[in-house]
Amino acid sequence: MFSYRHAFHAGNHADVLKHMTLVAILQYMGQKDTGFTVVDTHAGAGVYRLDQDHARKSAESDAGIFRLLAAVEAAKAGSQPVPELVKNYLQQVRSFNQGKDLRVYPGSPWISQALLRPQDKLKLFEVHPTDSRLLDRQVAELERGKQIEVLRRNGFEGLRSLLPTPTRRGLVLIDPSYELKTDYAAVIDCLEEALQRFPTGSYAVWYPVIGRPEAHSLARKLKAMSQRLQRSWVQAELNVGLTPTEGTSAQVAQGRAHTAMRASGMHVINPPFTLAAQLREALPFVTEALQDPIGSGWTVESGNY
Ligand SMILES: C[S@@+](CC[C@H](N)C(=O)[O-])C[C@H]1O[C@@H](n2cnc3c(N)ncnc32)[C@H](O)[C@@H]1O
Repeated sequence: MFSYRHAFHAGNHADVLKHMTLVAILQYMGQKDTGFTVVDTHAGAGVYRLDQDHARKSAESDAGIFRLLAAVEAAKAGSQPVPELVKNYLQQVRSFNQGKDLRVYPGSPWISQALLRPQDKLKLFEVHPTDSRLLDRQVAELERGKQIEVLRRNGFEGLRSLLPTPTRRGLVLIDPSYELKTDYAAVIDCLEEALQRFPTGSYAVWYPVIGRPEAHSLARKLKAMSQRLQRSWVQAELNVGLTPTEGTSAQVAQGRAHTAMRASGMHVINPPFTLAAQLREALPFVTEALQDPIGSGWTVESGNY
């Protein structure tokens, strides 16, 4: 049924943007004592090896997390400043690795579980038969009992039964693979309903920026929904550009340059008030670190209510 496996993409530029944003939100939420619930509607396998088959075959992390690490090392060596959020994110990634080499990359469930306090909960939806089994096994090894629950069902549908969260504090991460064209509409429908049930919850949606009408309109619809419902929002996009071998400027202009995804975005509803500034500080550094020569860039837009 589903062929997408996140193991091929772990640590790529999209993960860098998504997981940096996740770290920023959870570290902020952890500042208040009251417990919170994190719901990850599309969890993946949990944690990934960067030095084995799937990841090596695609090598996407080479142009993602590994470039960022190299840039941070270079900045440190040259006594240049590294944005706080970049440091916090890399500290999380490093915490799953011993020594200097990066062999393991944490997916969203792993970043979330590391930032939970005893009073917090994590709910993980995953439908892929292999990845949900892997996730189940890896979560069991954490021995965290009822604090972390793996649900082998459709996250778009299952989310409603968990809202509002018991303490009225919560983050919902919606990170589909968009393998199904219907995922674009499902994101909006699911959010509309979730926001009715739990208007004060925080919601973080990842989306691809690709030449597909549904993708373009999703970014626009997310912004319009937040504005219509008068919820504060932050929308950040990171475009890592193209290499010369992927396309000449003429090919880029004609939209014939490449098929790989080169840009993605995060739309966050009810974000921490600190998030937009943190991303505005971090993304120039990240873009510089990850960019290929043609057409890279970043944006952070926000609205406050
Ligand atoms: C982009 S990956 C998730 C990556 C993960 N959130 C991370 O950041 O590490 C999307 C995952 O959603 C799963 N999936 C697809 N449709 C789903 C659905 N309706 N409900 C739950 N999981 C789904 C896929 O099998 C895949 O593992």
